[in-house]
Amino acid sequence: MRIYIVLNSTKRLTLETDNINYKLTIMRKSHLLLPTLSLLAVTAQSQSNLIINTQNRDVTSLNGAWNYIVDQYENGYYNYRYQPLDQQPNNSTMAEAIFNDYHPTDKTERVEYDFDLEETLNVPGSWNAQDDKLFYYEGTIWYRKKFDYKKKSENNRVFVYFGAANYEAHVYLNGNKLGSHVGGFTPFYFEITDFLKETKNSLVVKVDNKRKKEAVPTLNTDWFNYGGLTRDVKLIETSASFISDYHIQLKKGSLTEVTGYIQLNGNQHDEAITIEIPELKISKTMITDEKGYAPVSLTLKKPVYWSPENPKLYTVQLKSEQYKITDQIGFRTIEAKGSDLLLNGKKIYLRGISIHEDIGNRGDRANSEEDARIMLNRAKELNCNFVRLAHYPHNEHMIKVAEELGIMVWSEIPVYWTIDWENPSTYKNAEDQLTAMIGRDINRANIIIWSMANETPVTEPRTKFLTNLISKARQLDDARLISAALEKHADQNNPLEVTIEDPFAQYVDVLSFNQYLGWYDGLPEKCNRVNWSIKFNKPVIISEFGGDARFGFHADKDTRWSEEFQEDLYIQNLKMLEKIPQLRGMTPWILSDFRSPRRLLPRIQDGWNRKGLFSEKGEKKKAFFVLKDYYDQKQLQYSK
Ligand code: GCU
Repeated sequence: MRIYIVLNSTKRLTLETDNINYKLTIMRKSHLLLPTLSLLAVTAQSQSNLIINTQNRDVTSLNGAWNYIVDQYENGYYNYRYQPLDQQPNNSTMAEAIFNDYHPTDKTERVEYDFDLEETLNVPGSWNAQDDKLFYYEGTIWYRKKFDYKKKSENNRVFVYFGAANYEAHVYLNGNKLGSHVGGFTPFYFEITDFLKETKNSLVVKVDNKRKKEAVPTLNTDWFNYGGLTRDVKLIETSASFISDYHIQLKKGSLTEVTGYIQLNGNQHDEAITIEIPELKISKTMITDEKGYAPVSLTLKKPVYWSPENPKLYTVQLKSEQYKITDQIGFRTIEAKGSDLLLNGKKIYLRGISIHEDIGNRGDRANSEEDARIMLNRAKELNCNFVRLAHYPHNEHMIKVAEELGIMVWSEIPVYWTIDWENPSTYKNAEDQLTAMIGRDINRANIIIWSMANETPVTEPRTKFLTNLISKARQLDDARLISAALEKHADQNNPLEVTIEDPFAQYVDVLSFNQYLGWYDGLPEKCNRVNWSIKFNKPVIISEFGGDARFGFHADKDTRWSEEFQEDLYIQNLKMLEKIPQLRGMTPWILSDFRSPRRLLPRIQDGWNRKGLFSEKGEKKKAFFVLKDYYDQKQLQYSK
């Protein structure tokens, strides 16, 4: 364990202990966080409330048809005094509470809803994409799934797991409140062992996607607010004590030392846990502490490192007294050295593209392995080795397929535009989403960058909010790079002088910014007249640039919305950006056209942001070939 004591803005004291020995060092660092005395504990901390790698567990899917009730006035949740019914005394028999899925037992009873008589919605999927009446609906919908379940062994435990629900979910089983969750893009689960029946279980979920000022994201975004149970729902059966969470990755800057932890859930005493990596002839047993936590440290002998050219994954088996789980894990190092990015010690260039989790073919949130393959194969066609998954954690299929295809990933939380910076519950919400994002994917070798935010205004409360998020991220994972999509600044006296003037820039490992020269800022020809001066000795990634074009609309290169305009915009931007000495990658905006309620130009946008290099149906626009050519050259340049 390492503990930092920040002495002042340039000096910090590092106390290292392996619980047996203590070591003290004084460090000088120009960009230490927050020039006040503060204490930051940095360990490979377990988050004992996570269940990760659910794909490799004993799972029963609850996907499919769920009955639903549209409850615009939340009548099934609040009484007429607007008090939550599930907080009222003896609410389990309350007929009007929709979460009870109550059915009258005699003809005198007054019950004003009935799931059995209702239509169904498919899960996973948004309600907006499944029923035209619900296309613009923002509010509450109740979902109900009936299921039978017989445990495989008496002492086993059962959990209900949601890949995500947008935005706020309240979950009930057989009338019992299991809990609630806020945030539309991260997983959550509840233990149902004590409430489970062998037959006729009624799982009821209230999902509300109303946008709120204090929420994360907040009221305005440039993406469609798909509502509902948008990702997989499953039951997970485990032994009484089981391996819930683990972190097994190479230590920062080491090509041989694996560090991390394994966390049990439900252990009654310290247990022996064995980790085996047969291909690397590794078999090691550790003893957990009484909390079920065991630090991991292994030395790998000549492993094949994960890389885009060779996305090597090793079978890793973890065994505890009652439980075993397998994962496919890759080992690689990622570093920023000066303005270079090093993967496994070798300089790389990130040939990237930004992606929304919006599968235009179906006009819905992407949610399956098949959707992931459609989108990532488009990125492969562009000759990408990197994708920015914007602006929120995407579903696990996206991450896993990218890892298999050798595509590196930037993963981000939806701290987007004008968040309620000074609201403590907003910060807690953002930090919870960060913790869930890192916790779910911490063992994925292809994730190289965690992003804290997108295009947030430079104010003191905002910078404090974001620096707190960074320290949390480093606490959870001190081996990956941290960034955020910042904004460019033009010199007031000379608008053709552009730079990055953002106090937050000093805290990130990779300097990334969005710039829309040629679209929101002048015409493409302006790219030839501006001069970039970036003072940071850090790798630079252009996290966004681009312009809208309607597929099939052809005109001269000066006609906005035409493919020729977009093509020229890419030509001019790439030429301009190549002049930035620290440039080490980019993720142009965006792979495919995506739905946005902010894009209303008839016959051109029609509710779609048209900055894709592919149309929503997967048709390539002219600019696609400009970027592909550029990436082919870059690949050649960096393969030397
Ligand atoms: C912004 C933003 C995106 C948005 C894009 C656009 O920079 O980050 O979410 O979609 O620009 O305007 O198209």
